[in-house]
Amino acid sequence: MSNSPDDAYPPFKVQIAERVTRLPPYLFGRINGMLHNKRRAGDDVIDLGMGNPSDPPHQSVIDKLAEAAQDEGNHGYSKNIGIVNLRREVASKYFRKYGARLDPESEVIVCLGSKEGFSHMCLALMGPGDTAIVPAPYFPIHVYSVALASANVISLEVANSEKFLANIAYTCEHLYPKPKLLVLNYPHNPSSVVVEQWFFDEVVKLARKYGFMVLSDFAYADVAYDGYQPPSFLASKGAIDVGVEFTTMSKGYNMAGWRVGYCCGNAEMIRALGTIKGYYDYGMFQAIQIAAIVALRNTDTAVEEQSKIYQGRRNALCEGLSRLGWNITPPKAGMFVWAPIPDLWRQRMSTMDFGMMLLEKGNVAVSPGSGFGPAGEGYLRMSLVENEERLKQAVRQIKNCLRDAEANYSTKPAAVQPAAT
Ligand SMILES: Cc1ncc(COP(=O)(O)O)c(C=O)c1O
Repeated sequence: MSNSPDDAYPPFKVQIAERVTRLPPYLFGRINGMLHNKRRAGDDVIDLGMGNPSDPPHQSVIDKLAEAAQDEGNHGYSKNIGIVNLRREVASKYFRKYGARLDPESEVIVCLGSKEGFSHMCLALMGPGDTAIVPAPYFPIHVYSVALASANVISLEVANSEKFLANIAYTCEHLYPKPKLLVLNYPHNPSSVVVEQWFFDEVVKLARKYGFMVLSDFAYADVAYDGYQPPSFLASKGAIDVGVEFTTMSKGYNMAGWRVGYCCGNAEMIRALGTIKGYYDYGMFQAIQIAAIVALRNTDTAVEEQSKIYQGRRNALCEGLSRLGWNITPPKAGMFVWAPIPDLWRQRMSTMDFGMMLLEKGNVAVSPGSGFGPAGEGYLRMSLVENEERLKQAVRQIKNCLRDAEANYSTKPAAVQPAAT
């Protein structure tokens, strides 16, 4: 029914911009809806869906936030590129951990979470007719940010790093106009693929040869296992000439709700992001920036301890699923296990339906791989945010759910086969 005070006018129509309507559908809507309903009904669902850390930041960081919030001088608008001492601390971490030298004045900018920085960087660099290469399966924002900037996406399979490099070169040789941007994300979400430094060296060579810029999403820089150290794109020679890298305090530092991220690297690209941010935001609450300095300066050990906690959870989940007969490769880094669905179930139903079944009948929420694009079909992404006991319990619930579902399948009458002709 119309709310219009004057029925002489036609019904009012809200006209959404094409940049919004052309976005790909959000495929986790079905599973999130069921999760919400189950929780409202009081079900204890074990949630392995989102990578939302459940452990708190280091106490000294929380204390610093509380102290800085008491200072009257911290409540006004802050600098939208971040306070200089925080940018210095980020540059210092890059040098300490990766040997990469950054000028905190021109090569580091603070973002309201790396997702904000990433999407506004796409807006600063991309426009109609431009193309970005994005790894497949894809973390949704890598595609959405490019689409929101009215540009096009080509997704290339990320599973085999050498093949990925060859496909980037092939695409650059054959596409006109050539791709303008390459998105990288190692350790990769959702597939947990990792690389070594040589990979980034090759990317820099390709970027120089074909003239594309690089955005490296390094969200899982601080979460790695068994002594593996994820390399930084910016540690490769010449990387700073062709691209930037995004890091975050959401994962390793357990500060996801604080919304603190950084973009580092090419000064011209950083300036372009700063220009966009200058129009869109007034910077981050200064007390948070001050506490973030403390986290970067003093809590390396806590970050390493947090990785060990994830490693224990990874072991519990991978060993449990392997015991069920699943073909699991334990990840070397990141917060997820990327699990192939057993063949029998893959033949019977879609990845989305399998995920819905685990939630509906097993009270375990996972992210079906198809939510990360067609390359994710046949996989589940399971996050390591629940504790070891809950992960072991999740494996038992999956086992029982599949056993009951199997019984259901075997009692169904066999389909009548058509007579051979
Ligand atoms: C690959 C990847 N990039 C970026 C982000 C966003 O991080 P932030 O909290 O810094 O916006 C995430 C969060 O899940 C992620 O998985």
